Amino acid sequence: MIIAIDGPAGAGKSTISKILAQKLGFLYIDTGAMYRALTLKAIEEKIDIQNTSRLIEIAQNTVIDLKNNPDSSLKISLDGRDVSREIRHPCITRLVSDIAKIKEVRQSMLGLQRKLGRQRDSVLDGRDIGTVVFPDADKKFYLDADFSTRVQRRYKELKELGQSVTLNDIEHDLRNRDTIDSMREVAPLKKAEDAIYIDTTNMAVEQVVEKLLSIVR
Ligand code: CDP
Repeated sequence: MIIAIDGPAGAGKSTISKILAQKLGFLYIDTGAMYRALTLKAIEEKIDIQNTSRLIEIAQNTVIDLKNNPDSSLKISLDGRDVSREIRHPCITRLVSDIAKIKEVRQSMLGLQRKLGRQRDSVLDGRDIGTVVFPDADKKFYLDADFSTRVQRRYKELKELGQSVTLNDIEHDLRNRDTIDSMREVAPLKKAEDAIYIDTTNMAVEQVVEKLLSIVR
């Protein structure tokens, strides 16, 4: 079984997907983390963001793996190295959407995402899961929330990670990524026609999880 969860940044996708997967005993696949890992490699290799051919090349020659730890945290490895923390850094967030908009980069990630998802019952979260990665997913959800709520949620999350960010930084980042992610030509952020739309603005995490669980079951 495949559960697809799409939506913009800060709508609660990763929090909800992780809990949902845990409750169902499914694998949780954070597809955004894969684009983030690739972005980290591009930065480390000092590849210019405009150098599309080099970015495509590294996407094709990078081993990204994803494991669910028993404590429900996620381990992301990049060429065998654990990068779970590093990929949340603001310098990755700033560039990731520009790398994720490249068609061939997406093709490389798509292969990996499908391979992982076919191994086990899975919950995948991202931007194009219900539309492109698994258009025949058993259940599709599109999680959304008001812009200011998304900003607040992301602010709290990053503060808890110990990052020194301002609300202004977050507003700027979300606006920038929402625009790039939804305007790009390939696999833009969009609700699949058959996805269930859930506005999580006034919902607690547990309420959203319960709602999804009741629909899935
Ligand atoms: O957690 P957050 O919402 O900040 O973003 P993420 O899920 O970690 O994804 C980071 C970025 O990767 C997004 O802004 C997209 O540019 C890209 N992405 C994508 O293009 N397609 C996906 N399926 C997942 C992420």
